Amino acid sequence: MTNSRRKVHEGKAKIVWEIPPPRDMPGTGRAQEPAFVIEFKDDATAFDGRKRGLIEGKGRVNNLLSAIFFELLEREGVPTHYLKTLSDREMLVRRLEIVPVEVVVRNVAAGSLAKRLGLAEGTPLARTVVEFYYKSDELGDPLINRHHVRTLGLATDEELDRMETLALRANDILGRALAECGLRLIDFKLEFGRTDAGEIVLADEISPDTCRLWDVESGERLDKDRFRRDLGGVEEAYEEVLHRVREAAAKWRDLRPGGREGAEPAAPASPASADAPSGRPRARVFVTLKSTVLDPQGAAVRRALQTLGYTEVGDVRVGKFIVLELEEADPERVDEMCRRLLANPVIEDYRFELDE
Ligand code: TMP
Ligand code: ASP
Repeated sequence: MTNSRRKVHEGKAKIVWEIPPPRDMPGTGRAQEPAFVIEFKDDATAFDGRKRGLIEGKGRVNNLLSAIFFELLEREGVPTHYLKTLSDREMLVRRLEIVPVEVVVRNVAAGSLAKRLGLAEGTPLARTVVEFYYKSDELGDPLINRHHVRTLGLATDEELDRMETLALRANDILGRALAECGLRLIDFKLEFGRTDAGEIVLADEISPDTCRLWDVESGERLDKDRFRRDLGGVEEAYEEVLHRVREAAAKWRDLRPGGREGAEPAAPASPASADAPSGRPRARVFVTLKSTVLDPQGAAVRRALQTLGYTEVGDVRVGKFIVLELEEADPERVDEMCRRLLANPVIEDYRFELDE
């Protein structure tokens, strides 16, 4: 297997390999989704490559941590490139075209923001800050804004909006999850890519290389700043984060999508479970794109399922499921709500079920 791989890209911390094109699945005539293998290295650089070193075991920690975070985010509705973990240092991912815009989300002043705005490191930010950086080694990844993104044609306005929405969502999900591990998510950097169908998907990695993580109790830094600032105990810090996250991850796997602490045990969010605890009648509305309308999300799900070996899956339509609690079960009024707001009858089909 290994000798038929082609190196697509070697970065500072990772190598991206192209693997032989997947064979058509017998009897279906459909090819599996193209995938890449990411290999995580122990090499560490900082300050645009001016500082170089090795963090032993980092590749393994970052690979395993990224997998846990991607699985969590995916379950909570943030699409990611993650497909599966191949080994301690290798991950199978969807093939994407990377958007050359890095998205940084900040909850607490630290690093370059503290410096730029003259804030003491550790100052909580009144509002979450989102920043964009132009992914360019030659230019040293400069800070840019929406106008720069537009003028350089790095991403469309819609793509940038989607990246920002997903980044803020990831901030909520990861912040909550890390708090359970006794870690404060100070800030982090995300990268996104486009699928062949044009869907924006979270890519790259989520690790102590790309996040600032401070111990809740002691304020100790458990991230790459230990390497950047020669604080010592770098390897131990990475291992500590992996240890804590692994302990907590078993619990996250049991949570329902959108689940919170104290959520009842993994009940599937099926129509049947959406009965009104209040005793008031409910309408369950299902909205899908019309079969004549292209559904990129559905196409992406179909390809991902086929990559996982579910070759029996044909067309996939992704839609919305809406539950309304009502005063009385009046089908005409619900139909009107669907037409006027819940569905767009030009491009979407809808149907609903009403409690007796
Ligand atoms: P900064 O404060 O140095 O701008 O970093 C903000 C966040 O982004 C921090 O969590 C580290 C992460 N980061 C990267 O992942 N790669 C980079 O090249 C830089 C500069 C920061
Ligand atoms: N500047 C980045 C950092 O400090 C990495 C790099 O330049 O290689 O993490």
